[in-house]
Amino acid sequence: MKGLEPQRSTMLGAETTARANVNVALIKYWGKRDVSLNLPATGSISLTLDGLWVEASCQFGSDADECTIDARPPSDDDRVKLLRFVDLVRAEAGIEARARVRTTSSVPSGIGLASSAAAFAALATATSRAAGLRLEPPALSALARRGSGSAARSIFGGFVEWHRGERPDGCDSIAEPLRAPGDWDVRVVVAVTSEARKPVSSRDGMERATASPLYPVWVETAGRDLDEARRAIAARDLEALGLVAEHSALKMHAVGFAARPPLVYWRGPTVECMHRVWALRADGTRGYVTIDAGPQVKVLCEATDAPRIADALRDVPGVARVLVCAPGAGVEVLA
Ligand code: PMV
Repeated sequence: MKGLEPQRSTMLGAETTARANVNVALIKYWGKRDVSLNLPATGSISLTLDGLWVEASCQFGSDADECTIDARPPSDDDRVKLLRFVDLVRAEAGIEARARVRTTSSVPSGIGLASSAAAFAALATATSRAAGLRLEPPALSALARRGSGSAARSIFGGFVEWHRGERPDGCDSIAEPLRAPGDWDVRVVVAVTSEARKPVSSRDGMERATASPLYPVWVETAGRDLDEARRAIAARDLEALGLVAEHSALKMHAVGFAARPPLVYWRGPTVECMHRVWALRADGTRGYVTIDAGPQVKVLCEATDAPRIADALRDVPGVARVLVCAPGAGVEVLA
């Protein structure tokens, strides 16, 4: 496929730094068709968010692999994940050199805005360039996906679709931009209801969801949701996009509710925030809820309505903080 062929340059040893923003899924990725390649059972659509980024730097040629996350040694799990990803890049580039890898994040920890999507999008870009590869965005998206599925989408800015793909090797499971960040002045208001680490990771949650009796319905109906969202984004129709995004999120959580053992990421304030958004909507302020694998509530709205929605959510008992995010850019090479 065009753009997927790596081009090799001769430079090794230079440090490369890249920065990527987080994204929030409006049509969710929840379940895999191939666990080891992180291939999704369905497509998904997201919005990349400004100001919540991860920067990754990589240099090959050190004596041993070294990595830090926010200037600290990573946990054993994170180290394994990171170095497994560097191994993929080494294999692709045909090199064996050891690497020094650093990531720093602007995303406050525990706010439930998957910084792993931004981290692996930045890492895919920094490590592949440092290894002498010059990958086009579709190939970067496929590489980022190997670290964390949703990272495939953070390569691009604005509204983004990640395709399920059909091929067993996954080379057609890549993201593409649908609408540039400056094209539609929407906001995502994030209500943080709990800063505790989530008890079930997305990876484990997806595995449990796959055994839910509602999972086949989830997979069967995803195509319809994607079509609806794509049309709404093309028409800049906030109500149509918001309603299908809310439906996708609630359906994803319903799959978990019906799993055995059940998977419930919500806390009390999560439900209270939803009701507050629906009450505002009944009064004419258009906000639409989405929730990921955690208790935080994210609300899609027009920029002009964001302050009113943020104020209303700040008043909900149990809400620890509220952030307002504009659409953000795709991955950038900084040095
Ligand atoms: O990319 P992962 O493995 O962190 O999974 C992301 C799962 C959700 O955030 C719940 C949905 C999505 O599409 O981002």
